Amino acid sequence: MTKEHTALVAGVTGAIGAAVAHELSQNQNRTVYGLSRNPPSSPLPEVSYLQTDLSNRQKCSKDIAALGNVTHIYYCGRATHSEQVLEDPEHNLELLRNLLDSTEKSGTLQHVHLVQGGKYYGVHIGPFPTPAQEGQPRAPAPNFNYDQQDFLSARSERANWTWSASRPNTLIHYSPAVARNLVSSLGAYAALCKAMGAALDFPGPAQAYNSITQVTSLDLLARGISWMSCTGHCANHAFNITNTDIFRWSSLWPKLADAFSMPVGTVRPMQLADVMADRQSLWMQLCRQSNLKQTRLNRIANWGYLDATLTRTWDEILCHNKTRAMGFHDWDNSEDRFFLILDQYRSDALIP
Ligand SMILES: NC(=O)c1ccc[n+]([C@@H]2O[C@H](COP(=O)([O-])OP(=O)(O)OC[C@H]3O[C@@H](n4cnc5c(N)ncnc54)[C@H](OP(=O)(O)O)[C@@H]3O)[C@@H](O)[C@H]2O)c1
Repeated sequence: MTKEHTALVAGVTGAIGAAVAHELSQNQNRTVYGLSRNPPSSPLPEVSYLQTDLSNRQKCSKDIAALGNVTHIYYCGRATHSEQVLEDPEHNLELLRNLLDSTEKSGTLQHVHLVQGGKYYGVHIGPFPTPAQEGQPRAPAPNFNYDQQDFLSARSERANWTWSASRPNTLIHYSPAVARNLVSSLGAYAALCKAMGAALDFPGPAQAYNSITQVTSLDLLARGISWMSCTGHCANHAFNITNTDIFRWSSLWPKLADAFSMPVGTVRPMQLADVMADRQSLWMQLCRQSNLKQTRLNRIANWGYLDATLTRTWDEILCHNKTRAMGFHDWDNSEDRFFLILDQYRSDALIP
């Protein structure tokens, strides 16, 4: 029997793509395909994987045509990029366009979901109006989120499919294969500081320590994406998806120090990408002492990502009123979840 919902999750080896594929595959009435250039490190038995390069228009067109009747695209892809530099709008648009051109040919497409993020509001540039609402004016800077949404919106007007977009804030999740990860990067930072006999200094400026921030648990995001992509009245809308609570680093920091039985330090702005650059041998030593599984520090921590996240001196709050009013009421406790995830890294012998 043909299933009614055939999902193609593009970017399935990324943290978001993997979580979306997992969430969708929980419903037995769905067929789920996962697309990326590289094979996944932990494939899900319910997902069929396809390796193709979305920048190779001819090849991806042929490979995607072979999948048959895709009804839903979940675009969780992102062109390879460095931290703290502009992510190429043209290249990111090209990947989405090639995917859509290849999938649309079957004539079965019903919906395209696009994952965006706080970057839509310019969270990475400077202060922005908070709590950020989906319809507020855009930040005056190039942003691939804008190009991709405008492309989908214009194209859907002359097509039989609809679109939706999710905007999570900074994500928290257990993803041992993804070093660009707030929890594992902070856990590795704390463990290294302790091993050096240092206190747990906050590496950003005082304003960042005291600003209000917000995160999104990855499984919550995946549930939100499943909801908006399959709910008729959500068609052609974007939604903020956050845990709905807020916190300050100054409140979480002493608890992080406590989790590693180390003293809280001071606010000491520094570039972790420089300061932590040569800590691989110390990490190896920690791995031996604590019988850890992952010996490559750059597989567990991304210092540039941490630098970018902990140096924001402005509040980061996305409003969840629209999401709630339209029917999604899920939430999470950010600090509790942060430490549950950290515990999982530690009990799985990835962080001491
Ligand atoms: N990560 C976060 O903390 C976060 C937070 C909020 C919002 N977001 C947003 O979520 C979206 C996805 O970001 P992400 O961080 O999850 O991405 P990511 O971890 O960098 O994953 C990108 C995915 O795209 C695939 N990909 C890249 N180039 C490709 C190509 N040419 N052909 C086929 N697949 C390709 C990658 O797989 P291969 O390399 O194997 O091809 C990977 O599966 C972005 O819009 C981002 O702004 C991310």
